[in-house]
Amino acid sequence: MQSNRRTFIKSLSAASALVATESIAKPFGAPAYIPDLMKISPNDKIRFATIGMGIQGNFDTQSALRNPDVELVGCADLYSGRLEHAKTAYGKDKDLFITRDYREILARPDVDAVLIVTPDHWHDHITIAALKAGKHVYCEKPMVQHLNEGKAVIEAWKKSGKTMQVGSQRISSAAFKEAKRLVEAGDIGQINYIESNNDRFNAIGAWNYSIPTDASTQTVDWDRFLGDAPKRPFDEKRFFRWRNYKDYGTGVAGDLFIHLITGVHFVTNTLGPTRIYSSGNLAYWKDGRDVPDIMACIMDYPKTDQHEAFQMVLRVNFANAGKINDVTRIIGNEGQIEFSENNLIMTKKKLPVAPGYGGYDSFFTFTEPVQQEFTKKYDAQYPPDTRKSEPVKEVRFEAPKNDDPSAKHFADFFDNVRRGSQGTVEDPVFGFRAAAPVLACNESYFEQKVVHWDPITMTQQHPTTKSTSAETVAKKKSAKKKT
Ligand SMILES: NC(=O)c1ccc[n+]([C@@H]2O[C@H](COP(=O)([O-])OP(=O)(O)OC[C@H]3O[C@@H](n4cnc5c(N)ncnc54)[C@H](O)[C@@H]3O)[C@@H](O)[C@H]2O)c1
Repeated sequence: MQSNRRTFIKSLSAASALVATESIAKPFGAPAYIPDLMKISPNDKIRFATIGMGIQGNFDTQSALRNPDVELVGCADLYSGRLEHAKTAYGKDKDLFITRDYREILARPDVDAVLIVTPDHWHDHITIAALKAGKHVYCEKPMVQHLNEGKAVIEAWKKSGKTMQVGSQRISSAAFKEAKRLVEAGDIGQINYIESNNDRFNAIGAWNYSIPTDASTQTVDWDRFLGDAPKRPFDEKRFFRWRNYKDYGTGVAGDLFIHLITGVHFVTNTLGPTRIYSSGNLAYWKDGRDVPDIMACIMDYPKTDQHEAFQMVLRVNFANAGKINDVTRIIGNEGQIEFSENNLIMTKKKLPVAPGYGGYDSFFTFTEPVQQEFTKKYDAQYPPDTRKSEPVKEVRFEAPKNDDPSAKHFADFFDNVRRGSQGTVEDPVFGFRAAAPVLACNESYFEQKVVHWDPITMTQQHPTTKSTSAETVAKKKSAKKKT
């Protein structure tokens, strides 16, 4: 690492730049630099531990380790098989600390940062405890399980002065960065509509992951897994396929919409929608799960200084036996950008000034003299140069073969840790602004209502007068009749 003085100066200028931009883009952004609280290990390696060594815990650990000068020192998990697996996979040449109790990880002075890769219902608890224990935090998406849990995480982060990154790693991909550049440059004009979907048609894609043959109350710490969820007897399906139950997961909205919305927020610099409505159904995977396998939502984004008002429609269909084409499409009044994690196609299209006439139009229904008069007026109003539309232009972008969004997302996290900065690309304010609307989708689906959200203050609104629910409209009508 560089000398303290150089690091300090570098951090200070980065911090000043960040403060300047944050005051515009992030009304609730945290102070960017708190030098005394931001020290890392004396050996200059960032030492981290992973809490939750399941599927993504392994992928995240490997992605983190693809960065230089970082070291895995410990792992926590509630299933002993995964701790043993971690020992073999990551502890061959060293004494890797393993435990079922994440608090033992937080108590260790040799841990600078933790990766929180547990089921969603544990995210806020472990994040807050880790920040209080002075650890930097990389927390998987969605940042929290419920709408009312986000502010406490943000407060804990601000108070701690520690670095935090939320894990929707796709926004660190080259294609997302290019999409952002094109939107900011105004290449597709003003955005009016965005659609994005993530469909699947296979059992594993629908979250029915394999259950180990030795699953039991001996190998699994079931009570700790339940945490603040309702108590119930051991159920291996609930432990290993927790996404299928709303007590522990966040359904397709928190699991998949979150990636789509995070990408959109990153590309458009938006703060979020004000009105959220979702609807869905459990259509195919009737295996005991209590969350829908088909869900669509509509979100209304208001005009801000960054963009015009637009509508966004997200969809997940786990029973799509048809053609699956998972893309995000950002549509503006001068073209569209269609992108996935690795590539992007921009199509530019601009209308001519002259509206044209004839063809499938009312012109042929006019009388001969009216047609002649119309043509004369039209020619006077629209000279030839106003009738030409620009040729449709297509621009393609392919991410470099070695583009590694997961490692890059961690690189941003570690870089901020080293610089003593809280300015990660997906800090908890950004993370919550993306999570809240998708968590609102669950509220909308289960309670059959429209959710009103203030993206600036990040609070749910309860407007009695604004409600458009059929019930309220009916009540108003009957009240009118009585008066
Ligand atoms: N960013 C991405 O692309 C991506 C992809 C997949 C999953 N995820 C997220 O990663 C998280 C984990 O998902 P997964 O698929 O790896 O689940 P998983 O079931 O494979 O693994 C979760 C692990 O957490 C452990 N665990 C549960 N509670 C714990 C606790 N209190 N302390 C310590 N360990 C605990 C379990 O024993 C389990 O091994 C979820 O939040 C999910 O949304 C993100």
